[in-house]
Amino acid sequence: MSKHGSDTITGFRARFYSKIMSVCGAERVYRQALSLLKPRAHERLLDVGCGTGTFLKLLRANSSIPLALTGVDASDDMLHEARKNAGDISFQYADASSLPFRDKTFNAVVSILALHHMPCEVKKKAIGEIARVLKKDGRVVILDLFRPNTRLGGFFSFWFNLHSYTKGNWEFTIGEIEQNGFIAVKEGTVRGFVGYLVAEYPQGG
Ligand SMILES: C[S@@+](CC[C@H](N)C(=O)[O-])C[C@H]1O[C@@H](n2cnc3c(N)ncnc32)[C@H](O)[C@@H]1O
Repeated sequence: MSKHGSDTITGFRARFYSKIMSVCGAERVYRQALSLLKPRAHERLLDVGCGTGTFLKLLRANSSIPLALTGVDASDDMLHEARKNAGDISFQYADASSLPFRDKTFNAVVSILALHHMPCEVKKKAIGEIARVLKKDGRVVILDLFRPNTRLGGFFSFWFNLHSYTKGNWEFTIGEIEQNGFIAVKEGTVRGFVGYLVAEYPQGG
């Protein structure tokens, strides 16, 4: 648990997190995020709740353009794993509800399977912080637990929903994204139980 009451991943779970995710077929989720993010040269990108850094490392490995990549997480143990073979990616300790960056720093912010680890009050602050650090022409890409729409999705969701913070996670997230003035430009699901959302500020807003 973080000091703000989020369910951070520590110890044994952090050490084996990447392997477990790989066995569970999470690469499809990371690849979906990659195709939604569509990075452009010289952009500054932030991953909130980056865990062991799998997504940013995949992004780095799949792009030949210069990008400034930063990941934050509230677990030192996850960051310890992330910093292995991190190259030029910066991994920093930060709670999502209080990001250590200036206003309008990033071109895009991504958050993958992290918001459901936060109680509503932390999630609300985290989405406010994402909005604050994002440039006005920036985009936010969120992938997180969604209502299951396949049998396999239902199986996974059953276990995930035993965790109290996951209940209503997607609806709450969408509501807060809208509250912060974003409009959704793309929505869908991957693997039957992970929702995705790309949102931006209204043009000229
Ligand atoms: C299921 S993992 C997802 C990690 C990574 N995004 C991925 O997809 O592999 C959730 C991550 O969110 C982090 N986390 C939970 N609450 C947080 C908070 N309040 N601020 C920052 N990170 C948090 C956890 O420590 C954990 O690394």
